[in-house]
Amino acid sequence: MSTVPILKDLSFYSNPDLQKSRYENLIKSFKVNFPNDEVNFIARSPGRVNLIGDHIDYNYFPVLPMAIEVDVIASVSLNDSNKIVITNTNPNFERYTIELPANLENIDKDIRIDDVHSWGNYFKCGLIVASKFLNETTTTNSLKGMHITFNGTVPTGGGLSSSAAFCVTSTLAILYANGCHQISKSDLTKITVVSEHYVGLNNGGMDQCASIYGEQGKALQIQFKPTIKGIPFKFPVENLVFLITNSLQVSNKQETAPYHYNLRVVEMAIASDLLAKKLNLENSELVKDSNLGGFSLRSVMDGYCGEWKDDDYETGILHLQKMIDVVETKLTNKKGYSVDEICEELGISTEEFKTKYLTKFPIKFQALKLYQRALHVYKESLRVLQVIKLLSSNTSDFFNKFGELMNESQQDLDLLNESSNSKLNEICSIALSNGSFGSRVTGAGWGGSIVHLTNTEDLPNLIDSLRNYYKQEFPQISENELDEAIIDSKPGMGSCIIASTKF
Ligand code: GLA
Repeated sequence: MSTVPILKDLSFYSNPDLQKSRYENLIKSFKVNFPNDEVNFIARSPGRVNLIGDHIDYNYFPVLPMAIEVDVIASVSLNDSNKIVITNTNPNFERYTIELPANLENIDKDIRIDDVHSWGNYFKCGLIVASKFLNETTTTNSLKGMHITFNGTVPTGGGLSSSAAFCVTSTLAILYANGCHQISKSDLTKITVVSEHYVGLNNGGMDQCASIYGEQGKALQIQFKPTIKGIPFKFPVENLVFLITNSLQVSNKQETAPYHYNLRVVEMAIASDLLAKKLNLENSELVKDSNLGGFSLRSVMDGYCGEWKDDDYETGILHLQKMIDVVETKLTNKKGYSVDEICEELGISTEEFKTKYLTKFPIKFQALKLYQRALHVYKESLRVLQVIKLLSSNTSDFFNKFGELMNESQQDLDLLNESSNSKLNEICSIALSNGSFGSRVTGAGWGGSIVHLTNTEDLPNLIDSLRNYYKQEFPQISENELDEAIIDSKPGMGSCIIASTKF
């Protein structure tokens, strides 16, 4: 069992000296916020960049992200009050106090998510899942009081999982504070995957798993079946670089969820149920594993094509190719389905439709593009397996082949999944003409960041051309903002506790 590491220093960063002053400032800021306290420990979790495989994790197909060095750190002291007070080195996030309930029995009812958007809500997400875990697996039935100061370097709304880094850090801090010092990566992943569901985002598990399982110098393959886990791996080529550029279009997953992210989850859930019906799989042993309680595109594939183990990429590739044909022949309405049409095909009433698909996470839509979304999932999942195959192929053409798959992914994100846009496409095409082998929007999309595959020789030219683009597009941009918008991040260490305040 692999557990979240407890460390004594900052040597896991590629540049520990640079981090030293940041951590010292965190402690100083903590002392200003809580003058009578000493820091007991620091909890930390990083952001992630997804290299390939977007909008498929909630259909349980493997994805290939890596944890990056930007992260959220939290200095914590404990007390016997019934309050948790959170503060931030960034003054935009105001001091926020949470009253703790007397026991943990009904924590998800006792801790109320504010109606207005607040950073405290994300902390509460971590609080709820940590408390449920403590209640179910330990004898703890009330929580310690805590004083916390956070500092974060993951750009908010930048598509690099700032919210997952924050929620995982919060959860980890609460668990450690309440006596869980040997927390397994697997448990922390399972409990945090659903944390953002409490603020209305029906997300999959990639972000939390990548943040937790990251290892220095290694990317991750994340598998979801039979259970979610991250498998660290090294790239077979030496001079490879993933450059990340923030489009500076804020992607607020939670606020736009009803017509962006959550709508995709619903469209894919309906596509799965419809395919299951058309393939006569409804009464078989098929597992109902989607977040909405129906089938997923993965369970439909496994039901139709037979058992498939995630490690057996050759079989996976064959099955996915078969499913692409199935989508082409079975989901024939390319303009988008209406509710009436779906109800008729599924043999359910409009009321049943609403209860099943529109209640848990409300959505807004004109037409439901089941053909496009299902096709995206099977094609994107196929590409992930093709990259995994490439990793062990010893090919001399690694960069071109990987890049081509990333570019195809971008095209489908744009045209089938409709989570890119013209500005994001423009950044990709500038990069491709200036030293990128493959460029694609990473994570949820609709703004956020783009990941480019390049090598050490082409990197300077790529950075120059992108800097020029930003200067033209945002004439007011400062040098500092430019540096923050273009990150050459190495694969970084996942979640950890730092049990020292001397760096
Ligand atoms: C967001 C979600 C993830 C995943 C990506 C898209 O980051 O939190 O679960 O679905 O979008 O791949």
